[in-house]
Amino acid sequence: MLDIKAIRTHFPILQKTVNNNPLVYFDNGATTQKPLAVINAITEYYTKQNANIHRGVHALSREATELFEEARKTVAHFINAEESELIFTSGTTHSINLIANGLSFEKDSEILLTQLEHHSNILPWQLNAQKNNAKLKVVPIHEDGTLQLENLKNLVSKKTKVVSITHVSNTLGVINPIKEIISEIRKLNSNTLIVIDGAQSVPHLKIDVKDLDCDFFVFSGHKMYGPTGTGVLYVKKNVFNQLQLSASGGGTIKTVSFEKTEYVDGPLKFEPGTPNIEGVIALSAAVKYIDSIGIEKIAQYEHELLGYAQSKLAEIPEVEVYANHLNKAAVISFNVKNQHPFDVGTLLDKYGVAVRTGHHCTQPLMNYYNISGTIRASFAMYNTFEEIDVFILGLKKAIKMLS
Ligand code: ALA
Repeated sequence: MLDIKAIRTHFPILQKTVNNNPLVYFDNGATTQKPLAVINAITEYYTKQNANIHRGVHALSREATELFEEARKTVAHFINAEESELIFTSGTTHSINLIANGLSFEKDSEILLTQLEHHSNILPWQLNAQKNNAKLKVVPIHEDGTLQLENLKNLVSKKTKVVSITHVSNTLGVINPIKEIISEIRKLNSNTLIVIDGAQSVPHLKIDVKDLDCDFFVFSGHKMYGPTGTGVLYVKKNVFNQLQLSASGGGTIKTVSFEKTEYVDGPLKFEPGTPNIEGVIALSAAVKYIDSIGIEKIAQYEHELLGYAQSKLAEIPEVEVYANHLNKAAVISFNVKNQHPFDVGTLLDKYGVAVRTGHHCTQPLMNYYNISGTIRASFAMYNTFEEIDVFILGLKKAIKMLS
């Protein structure tokens, strides 16, 4: 059992009132709030260690470098990767761009995505496809937001160079069975590189990249209680040499002359320039914080919140939930019949309830449902059943006002 009361005291922002109501923060899919452990890690770094890393012989630089590289170990361990497989980036979008810009293919190659993907897992591949004369293919979904996996064997061919797929849909919360999908793809084409977008899964599910057997796994720090501007690109050891450099600069080399440059091996090669040092250190504080609570316990509690909220929404006849089942992370996307999501979201804000409205950067998914957007409530470990009651009451009042 989680001690939610205690957990809530770790997040100072939860004391805030919005429009004279206690804040009910249900926009965790966009970004989570930050615990004191993370906030303090940033202050502590700037108070005690601030210096540039990997460059100085002086004490502060050594201390900062040590903290940064310790963070790499902590974050790698969190997903069962090795530190030599973990590149720090500014977030999921940056990570996917590094992969898509770093892979080139012969003409007529194929890149397989799914109907669920966030724009960040479509657009970099679209650019890659234009550059390489490759073709994008898409795994369709069923009405309940699950993938039509029965089509996989028709979609993966000898030409399939990459499959890039989200672990958890940011819009619907649907959890894709990625372990089974990866194993199926390996059987269909053992040379296909497999990229998993873990932005929405890492905060909610235990991740083990070795067990999954993916080639790349990407996620953001700010959706898992860490700072904005931090992210991770995991690259499986034996595919590191397939990833070409798409950006370069200081800190990535062994020797440079105008004629020739010799790069270092491993993650530093892909981290040019001064990184987000305090962000990475605070990200490792976020990982330690999650570990101190226990990701399995978090997952179980959030699942209970999901079930409760969906059962309450089911009692409101005007509400239509997309992917109305429980094989999901703690995300609910819905609409109110004949109402624009923005209007509902704006009224909920009046009651202090923060939800996200719009297309959630998944326009192809919106096109599938033939809608322009949804209202999305996404939960985190500090949310409560009482907050769901406030949300449901606010929603009922909003529906009354709008009809
Ligand atoms: N990708 C983030 C979301 O789904 C911003 O809200």
